[in-house]
Amino acid sequence: MEAHSLPNPSSFHVLTFLFTILLFISHHTQPVSATTSTTTATTSTTTNQAYANFIRTACNTTTYPSVCFKTFSRYAAVVQINPWKLSNTALNITLKAAKSTSKLVSKLAQQNGYTPTDAAVMKDCIDNIGSSIDELKQSIQAMTTVDSSSDKLFQMDSIKTWMSAAITDQTTCTDGFYGGEVSPSVKNRISNSILKFTRLTSISLSLINNLTY
Ligand SMILES: *[C@@H]1O[C@H](CO)[C@@H](O)[C@H](O)[C@H]1NC(C)=O
Ligand SMILES: *[C@@H]1O[C@H](CO)[C@@H](O)[C@H](O)[C@H]1NC(C)=O
Repeated sequence: MEAHSLPNPSSFHVLTFLFTILLFISHHTQPVSATTSTTTATTSTTTNQAYANFIRTACNTTTYPSVCFKTFSRYAAVVQINPWKLSNTALNITLKAAKSTSKLVSKLAQQNGYTPTDAAVMKDCIDNIGSSIDELKQSIQAMTTVDSSSDKLFQMDSIKTWMSAAITDQTTCTDGFYGGEVSPSVKNRISNSILKFTRLTSISLSLINNLTY
């Protein structure tokens, strides 16, 4: 017997030996649960991959595919494979970008020493971005009630109209900046922020245009 080869085969050692056998058995039945956890890990990798692929494909049909994917792929866990959640996420992030652009231009406009053109362009921009923010908020609000709307078609058309208006307002702002009359120092300080915001608005409208209802 194995147990006899153990030093001092006391009952304690026999118990230890039996316990070892039990451990051995349980270890060898382990593969069942090990397989389960491997499957879970594989599934979640596959799921994350599926979420990322969904966003990549949806972004591919927008005006700026790589900006779209780069911006929204980090929200994959929220969006999953839901085109409405992707559109709502895009709207929320666009609104955030709009507010941050508005803050930046407002702060810049408060400084002194601008040419009358610089001051006028900045003032117009603040007004235009303000209108865009209102239109974005209106769209975000309307998106939350599409499901319960008695006229989904009309409601979605309204959202698309507001989003188009938001883009037109921004164009008025950027036209002022790119018309060549604004000082480079003013232009350089806000052009990245405006560019980011206008691209996100355009992407959001593309995503909304692709929704089916
Ligand atoms: C994106 O679109 C291009 C052309 O429209 C297509 O060749 C490519 O396979 C698409 N990629 C994805 C990830 O859908
Ligand atoms: C967008 O923002 C609203 C209001 O803050 C919030 O209720 C909603 O959950 C957000 N949607 C997504 C998809 O993040």
